[in-house]
Parts: sequence; structure tokens; C-alpha cells
Amino acid sequence: MASYDVIIIGGGPGGYVCAIRCAQLGLKTACVEGRGALGGTCLNVGCIPSKALLHASHMLHEAQHNFTKMGLMGKSPSVDFKKMIEYKDGVITQNTTGIEFLFKKNKVDYLRGWGKITAAGQVSVDGEIHEAKNIVIATGSEPSSLPGIEIDEKIVVTSTGALALSKVPKRLAVIGAGVIGLELGSVYKRLGSEVTVIEFLDHITPGMDSEVAKTLARTLKKQGIKFIMNAAVQKVEATKTKAKLTYEGRKRGNIEVMDVDVVLVATGRKPFTDGLGFTDLGGKMTDRGQIETNDRWLTNLPNVYAIGDVITGPMLAHKAEDEGMAVAEEINGKHGHVNYGVIPGVIYTSPEVATVGKTEEQLKAEGVAYKVGKFSFMGNGRAKAVFMGDGFVKLLVDKETDRILGCHLIGPAAGDLIHEICVAMEFGASAQDIAMTCHAHPTFSEAVREAALACGDGAIHA
Ligand code: NAI
Repeated sequence: MASYDVIIIGGGPGGYVCAIRCAQLGLKTACVEGRGALGGTCLNVGCIPSKALLHASHMLHEAQHNFTKMGLMGKSPSVDFKKMIEYKDGVITQNTTGIEFLFKKNKVDYLRGWGKITAAGQVSVDGEIHEAKNIVIATGSEPSSLPGIEIDEKIVVTSTGALALSKVPKRLAVIGAGVIGLELGSVYKRLGSEVTVIEFLDHITPGMDSEVAKTLARTLKKQGIKFIMNAAVQKVEATKTKAKLTYEGRKRGNIEVMDVDVVLVATGRKPFTDGLGFTDLGGKMTDRGQIETNDRWLTNLPNVYAIGDVITGPMLAHKAEDEGMAVAEEINGKHGHVNYGVIPGVIYTSPEVATVGKTEEQLKAEGVAYKVGKFSFMGNGRAKAVFMGDGFVKLLVDKETDRILGCHLIGPAAGDLIHEICVAMEFGASAQDIAMTCHAHPTFSEAVREAALACGDGAIHA
């Protein structure tokens, strides 16, 4: 039996970051992980592998659609999907072994196996008991399916199966026009699949600024993705080689049947707490199946914390990482900080979408007096040079004080550009602060400055 200051259950972005920070703060730390590799969903079957496939398929798209425009002539590349999957797997291994290296460097003990809280201050890992003054639950989430749909990860897949298909499906149905559906739908569309997205609501990416959502929907349609909106999927019947999907049109009540080769179920994720032992010891859950915590990430069990997808808030790796660092500070007797008002969200489609802070709809609902500064990438020389003039930066600022309240971007490198605004919001900056900051030319970032200028006397290149 080993004794620790902290045992973290779960080696995903929340758990492993928490473990490293705890060790850096001088706490004797162990991290328990059962999947055989560190990095959680994000590194193994989520963010990182999907970005590898998005990159590869984007390169193909560029070769097919833009190379000749730049005088790069010749046959466009064909797809060796097996090789592409090997490339993706290589990226995963590099990243997961990188975390093992960081654990060794920081003297975090990596306990391989599934962890269970067996008593106060006790965690069993595949039957072996370890003692801990503090326990952090960072067990993440798993895909949630729909009634009437059985996942086999071959024909009817979640994101996990979609990242490991044996071939590019001829016809792919995607259930859910959220982040996963649109990112993976984009991958397979570019690789040659006929992609149809079936969405329950009348709009894509619920919760996103509606102007950005509409522009994204229009762009993806132009890229050839088909959308069936206001449709409730009723069942999916799969054979060994294909599937029959039945949905009901919510407006007219019409029942439709589609034959496809693969169905991707991307209707959200749910907290993962199987076999954790938390509730057996009296641990409190919310009615949405999340572990309940106070504002210091403490559960109702003494010295048991929880972070990441398993608690409330957006299911995002970077939100979990922030909570992981904050909890390490709390355990170390200091004050952990997470600013939930400044958590960016990114969709890695092409163009990318990035968002932080309030949407225009939220400001309206809250009765806040605001101004909008908007700038189209059509006015940005760098974006036009790389065929990325579609899209815009939309900055929302307080009408009285000019303080930045939110930013919604669709366009080139949006996922990187958003961080200028995140820093500005952390510092309570105004649009004028951004407008008065010199931005290098020619960069995509100039579009952010132009949106800030548009909140004042006007953008220059609009
Ligand atoms: P999501 O919550 O983003 O979207 C699910 C979509 O499915 C919604 O549009 C919803 O209206 C629709 N839907 C639900 N039931 C349906 C039904 N019966 N028929 C048709 N449509 C239905 O969930 P998603 O895309 O599965 O992602 C799960 C989580 O993973 C999210 O929290 C997301 O933020 C996170 N994630 C984040 C990524 C990123 O930051 N780039 C990438 C991938 C996942």
C-alpha cells in the first residue's frame, strides 16, 4: 500500500494537468488511468486524432480545389486511408507517451488500472489499495446515444469509431449538428463521402451566436454537406455492411428512411462514473448525472474533489485543464482560479469557428446595452491571398464603457485569433485598447483589430 497527498482518478486533460501541477507544488501525487494510455478522450479518441484527420483531409481539399489556382499543376493525391489512420495513430502515441515522460519528469506515480474510491482516503486500483489525503475525480465523459440505436463502433459509430473506420464510407449519416458531427462530417466529406447531417433543432451548433451559426451552415452546405433539420431520428437498423436510418420530420410528421454505409451518432456526451464507488459512499450527483461540487470543486465527501466533464460546465479539455490547476492550488492551501466567463470554444471546421464570452442573443436576453463591431475577412489581404475571405470577426462591447463582452469569429485561424480577445477580457480591456494596439501586417489578426476599430470611429478596410 502506498500513501499519497493526492490521488487523481483519470489521466485526461483535467487529471494529468492536475497531477503535474500537484507534483510541481511539492505534493506526493499519483494518477490512476485504466485505458492503457494517458491523455483521456482528448488525446486518444477525441481532439488530437480528429485534428490529425482534419489536417490531412484539409490538405487534400487544398490540393483538389486551390492548387491549380496558384499554378501548382498535376494530378491531385489519392487517399490511402489505412496510411492516414496510421499517421493519426502515430500522432496519438507521440502525445500520450509525452505525458508519461512529463509524469516521470515531475515525479507523478502513474497507477495503471481502474480506480475505485473504497473508503474515505482510500482508492483501490484493480484491487490494490492506496491511501490519499485528497482524491480528485477526473473521470471525464462518454458518448451518449439515443434510444433505439445500438452502437457497434463499426457501422453505427460514436466519435471513437469514426476515428478508426477501416475505409471511407460512401454514404455517411451524422446524427447531431454539434461540434463532433460537423468536425467529423467535414473530414469524411473532404475524403469523398456523401455526408448528410440530421439535426433535431432548426439550427446547427445550439448555443452559438446565431449569425456565426448561419454563416457556418451556409459554408458547410457550399462544401457539399447536406443538412436535414427539424428531424428526430427514431431508429437505426444495422447489418454487417450498412444501416437503415429512420427519422420523423418534426414539422409535418413525415417518416423518412435513409440507406447509408455508416451512421455517426454525435448527440452529446454524458459524465463517466461507472465503477467509481462515489455514490456507494454517499457522494451526491446532480439530476443530470454529474458529480455535484461546490465552487471550490469539492464534492460532499470530505477531501474529494471533482473536475472536468464529470461536473457541470462545458465539456472542453481546456476547461478541465484550468480546473485541474485550480484544484491543485486549493489542495496546496491556496486559492484556485477559473474564469468561467472567458472559456473559448472552437470548432475546427474549415473555416474555423471560435467564440468567447456572451453571444448577442444572451446580451439581448439580459437587457445589456451593447455595440457590435464587425469586420469581414474579405477586407483582410492575407485571408484573400489564401482563399479564406469568407467569414468575419464580430466583437460585442458594452455600449457605455466599451468593455469587451464577447467575440465570435468565423474565418482563417479563428481558434488562434480568439486568444487575443480572451487575454483582453481577462484584463477587462475595451475595444479601444485592441484598436490602439499595433497589429503586424499582413496577418489574420488585423481583422480582430478592424472589428475593434468598427466599435469606435470605423474600420479602415471595410
Ligand atoms: P453537442 O452537444 O455539441 O451537439 C449535439 C447535437 O445533437 C445538438 O445539435 C442536438 O440538437 C443534436 N441532437 C440531439 N438529439 C438529437 C436527435 N435525436 N436527432 C438529431 N439531432 C439530435 O454534442 P457533440 O457534438 O456530440 O459533442 C459532445 C461534447 O464534446 C460537446 O460538449 C462538445 O463541446 C465536446 N467537443 C468539443 C470539441 C471542440 O471543442 N472542438 C470537439 C468535439 C467535442
